[in-house]
Amino acid sequence: MEKQNAPIGIFDSGLGGLTVVKEVLKQLPNENIIYIGDTARVPYGNKSPETVIRFTTECVNVLKEQNVKMVVIACNTASSSGIEQIQDQFDFPVVGVVKPGALAAYKSTKKQKVGVIGTERTIKSGSYERAIKALNPDIEVWSKACPLFVPLVEEGWFDNDITRRIIRVYLSELMGKGIDTLVLGCTHYPLLKNTIKDIVGNDIRLVDSAEETAMVVKDIVRHHQMERHKNDNPEHQFFVTDAPEKFVELGEIFLQHKIKHISKIELESEIGGIK
Ligand code: DGL
Repeated sequence: MEKQNAPIGIFDSGLGGLTVVKEVLKQLPNENIIYIGDTARVPYGNKSPETVIRFTTECVNVLKEQNVKMVVIACNTASSSGIEQIQDQFDFPVVGVVKPGALAAYKSTKKQKVGVIGTERTIKSGSYERAIKALNPDIEVWSKACPLFVPLVEEGWFDNDITRRIIRVYLSELMGKGIDTLVLGCTHYPLLKNTIKDIVGNDIRLVDSAEETAMVVKDIVRHHQMERHKNDNPEHQFFVTDAPEKFVELGEIFLQHKIKHISKIELESEIGGIK
């Protein structure tokens, strides 16, 4: 298949990466998309970097078999766990979400004080802090892991008493640091955006990497002259590693779009069992 018509592959540990799909579709509406969500093994956020890299590589291999022209690692945890090792294994562009998210924070902060929230693994890796400081070493960065946010979102609890209390507990320390920008460094957190905004107030801007990442994707596609020019309806195909029902139910809220073509796949390591 010539590169122009090849799909863009987008990977996440689950369904949160659909927030990135949504932005890519907004900026590149003609593109075919193939998404893989490793729903059988989500969450990645509390796993070791070695495991995250292994799982991610398997999923990117599935996208490779689908002849994608490039891959977006929409998962912040995977993007923070040695993405260079993954990029080295493939001969098409592989982009993560941390650098674009850091760029969004750099553009947003006026006081040079930024907070970052993410999964345990993302925060432990220090990936956002490094990427923000690479843009401006004078920016002060405070980070906080918020491991309960992912299950709350997976449960569809975007705004209720429990969610609000948990948000307050996690964010009170960061709010005391005088930050003016908070990076939502996890695919799931944009779904809590309104509730977080209500709690932290208007003086703190919330940034997520989805929009900046979509711009990077657009640049790469244009730079490599891989844009799809056909005007027929593009195809969007979704693969998951566990039952599709819940993915479709919540995924349509994430994507704000119907999910029509979805199938469950078996990853080789899962079929193989203990060797
Ligand atoms: N996709 C993950 C991330 O953005 C969140 C879910 C998980 O822990 O796997 O960090």
